Amino acid sequence: MALSFMDIFEEWAVNYDEAVSGHNPEYKDVFENYTFMLKEAAKRAEGRTIEFGPGTGNLTLLLLNKGLEVTAYEPSPEMAAIGEQKTGLSFKTGDFLHFDATEADTIISSFAFHHLTDTEKSAAIKQYGTLLNDGGRIVILDTMFNSRDEKQHIIRHYEALGHHHLVEDLNREYYPLKETIMAIAKQHGFNFESVQLNNFAHLTVLTKKTYHKPADLTGGTPLVELTAFELPAGVRLFAKLEMYNLGGSVKDRLGRHLIDEAVRRGDISTGEVVEATAGNTGIGLALACLAHGLKLRLYVPEKFSIEKQAIMRALGAELIMTATADGMLGARAAAAADAKRTGAYYTNQFESSANPASYDKLANELTAELGEVAMIVAGAGSGGTFTGLAERLKPRGARTVVVEPVGSILNGGDSGSHRTEGIGVEVWPKFMTRELIDAIETITDDAAFDAVKKLARREGLLVGSSSGAALAAALNQAPYVQGNIVVIFPDASDRYLSQHIYD
Ligand SMILES: Cc1ncc(COP(=O)(O)O)c(C=O)c1O
Repeated sequence: MALSFMDIFEEWAVNYDEAVSGHNPEYKDVFENYTFMLKEAAKRAEGRTIEFGPGTGNLTLLLLNKGLEVTAYEPSPEMAAIGEQKTGLSFKTGDFLHFDATEADTIISSFAFHHLTDTEKSAAIKQYGTLLNDGGRIVILDTMFNSRDEKQHIIRHYEALGHHHLVEDLNREYYPLKETIMAIAKQHGFNFESVQLNNFAHLTVLTKKTYHKPADLTGGTPLVELTAFELPAGVRLFAKLEMYNLGGSVKDRLGRHLIDEAVRRGDISTGEVVEATAGNTGIGLALACLAHGLKLRLYVPEKFSIEKQAIMRALGAELIMTATADGMLGARAAAAADAKRTGAYYTNQFESSANPASYDKLANELTAELGEVAMIVAGAGSGGTFTGLAERLKPRGARTVVVEPVGSILNGGDSGSHRTEGIGVEVWPKFMTRELIDAIETITDDAAFDAVKKLARREGLLVGSSSGAALAAALNQAPYVQGNIVVIFPDASDRYLSQHIYD
């Protein structure tokens, strides 16, 4: 960082909080809506976070309150002393370009990035590209100008008002043009997004472009608002469209996590993997096994859709059909016996705690996009999606609703057959603790298929029956909350056409 600015920090440290709270008339417009702006910036931070230039710690405090793991680099000892006292976090000495390079999910800064020249800004962003994890982002809250003309116009305006400190500051430091940051983002493989929050400040989010190869199309799925269904006042309904994963379902996240972790631990000794599945897990695992050159054997009850069977085979998996009457429990017993006999690695989605952990990123995607989630609605087959989301969103205040079909046992009903595919539980999942659940919605097949048809006709959404059940559950539960409801749509309807999903 241009160290010529160190003397400014010394001067600023004691006056900074006064300026941001609007008491310094020259900086009133620069920091207008300061608290709101910091909240908006903090909303966009997720996971392991590096903050540059925390200064007196105002943003840091919000990040810590959100429960994020924060590492803060501050070059000014005077600023750091105030910030450390305010936040209780010890700041490291460093700046945008000088720090311990560690992996991160978010790199964030408020009102500091302008200390870098444009060349330094470019060097910094290039470096962050190598440190950020998949789906990672750079969040910059700072003064930025829409055009050279605008900058000159603003400078003339404040000159006329006699705000000489501000004018000197605007002329001396490196407040960028929007087009410059856009070009830097593009050059280093980032998507650019920006909102203007007052006459000076813009909140810019640069997300890493991670789609280089097909396997990168896991996660980062679209979240869309549903408006064709009647909702109580103050409630908005959003659907997370997991059909946009490469393998067409939410289970790509699981397949990838289970296999990546097992490979990392060195657990797959024979090069073979086995699992019991209704199909989508098999597809997710098949994609992950392809990426690692592993052989996959899947035990699948006969009743499940032939489309899913064909896709699993197309991706190189070997399928062994088990009797419909033996249920998923029969398929699970057969997979476990195979692993024992052959030494193949049994991913064991129904019992492994790695299953719910696969949805960490899914939860992060939701909060990054919406800020607050008032209610999360997800179906349970293995229970992994629901558990993973509830573990992460319930502590942040979300009401958690798990969805099952009639014929599933969560609500104390008898185990029995159902047409709704992909959800339904025969024995209570080990990792799904009861404290995670605020409500269990048990949905009839008729209600699930009715919702599937309405989603097609009213929203143009072609989703599977477990999505229909989830929508029916969300509408039942909508009166209990205010704010954003998120419902997970696990897959699309085209893999159920042979099951007459629309008949
Ligand atoms: C279509 C569909 N919906 C929902 C689920 C439920 O997900 P989970 O096993 O994480 O509970 C599955 C699981 O296979 C599925 O295939």
